[in-house]
Amino acid sequence: MSQNKSNVFYKSLSKEYKCIDHGAGVYMYDTEGKRYLDLGAGLAVTNIGHGVKEVIDAISAQAAKICYLNGGAFTSQVREELASRIIALAPEGMERVFFCSGGSEAVESMAKIARQYQIEAGRPGKYKIITRWQSYHGNTFGTLSLGGRPSWRGPYENLMLHMPHIAQCNCYRCPYGLQFESCGLPCAEELERVIKYEGAETVAAFMLEPITGTTATATVPPVKYFERIREICDKYDVLLCCDEVITGLGRTGSAFAVNHFGVTPDLISVAKGLGGGYVPIGAVIAHKKVVDAVANGSGILEHSYTFAGMPISCAGANAVVKYITDNGIIEKAAASGELLLAKLRAALLDLDAVGDVRGKGLLIGVELVADKATKKPFDPARNFAGRVSAYCMEHGLLVLSGVTGTADGIEGEALQISPPLTISEEEMDFAVAVLREAIIAASQS
Ligand SMILES: Cc1ncc(COP(=O)(O)O)c(C=O)c1O
Repeated sequence: MSQNKSNVFYKSLSKEYKCIDHGAGVYMYDTEGKRYLDLGAGLAVTNIGHGVKEVIDAISAQAAKICYLNGGAFTSQVREELASRIIALAPEGMERVFFCSGGSEAVESMAKIARQYQIEAGRPGKYKIITRWQSYHGNTFGTLSLGGRPSWRGPYENLMLHMPHIAQCNCYRCPYGLQFESCGLPCAEELERVIKYEGAETVAAFMLEPITGTTATATVPPVKYFERIREICDKYDVLLCCDEVITGLGRTGSAFAVNHFGVTPDLISVAKGLGGGYVPIGAVIAHKKVVDAVANGSGILEHSYTFAGMPISCAGANAVVKYITDNGIIEKAAASGELLLAKLRAALLDLDAVGDVRGKGLLIGVELVADKATKKPFDPARNFAGRVSAYCMEHGLLVLSGVTGTADGIEGEALQISPPLTISEEEMDFAVAVLREAIIAASQS
């Protein structure tokens, strides 16, 4: 699309954007007929691929009946059905679902529900939410305050809410320079220290991405980290909130990433894979403990949005979740994830520029380094990851990449491998081969 003819306020006002005509399965096709295998699933969204007939039919059928209603005053069959399907997949004890239109709304809603819970539970002084550096929780002022990506917070820093942050749990780049398990998990103990510094009577919740998405790119903590975090939260009446906007509904090979750690959270946010890119939708899943506090207190959830629980969005998501369960997509993601991780490790770890290949299910990170021994990141001016993804795009492969701050919050580049969960082995082999070529090409230029 030529920029000088456009009225769209694009992210980049100088770049020429490819115009996409249609999608099918893991592929997108531009208006010039070029095909791209989408190894990012958009932004980790199109989990069941493009063009699934059952979903399109469900959306059309609902559109013919009713698209919108005031979700605060009425309900619909599809909203009820979707909530039941989500609860059936959710960890034990999760009981109710609040719907909204996307990830930032879901996280913001989760934070507000956590705050309301504390008020209803008779602890009105608890309002702070502790989060982690190198995390991403959304792009509104509230969710940016929760997130820990300095480059995205920077221009708005003076508008941020006070939300204390602790370090990531990242064994490849341990913030304490230690090694698991002899480390004693100081990254988990830091939560207790910060709760005490802030005053336990002021802390409502701790929020984290169980497996980190865009910023520390597919960092998986040890099970013991989660167990300790849960203990600390319980000790201080702090809710454990899992932001599963990217990981929810199967991406990591389990319905929810938190399941890998055997811990039950109090609140979960989901979005991307819930609508699968067919409809904009997000949700907060609440544990019985939270629901009971509201039911036995004011009886009113003090939060909503105009588009909360729209029938057209719920119909699409309902069909997506049905498709996921009917077709064993989560189990497929677990098996494909292991296969793709093994293929990527075999093909990439011998390259000087690849420091780490990690992840769970089909959320995989390839960390790029200038020096493998010291893990020194590339100078961002070199745009190494950008050049890798440009090469891939030229060769028909879409890869999410960038200076994500994986090293220290500012520097450090990674590729995010998060394809549709339906990717085949043949498609994986094509992707892995192009990726290897792309990293070699970027290293030589
Ligand atoms: C973990 C996490 N939380 C929240 C968000 C924000 O979601 P949205 O872009 O739909 O507002 C994202 C988006 O990437 C995310 O990965």
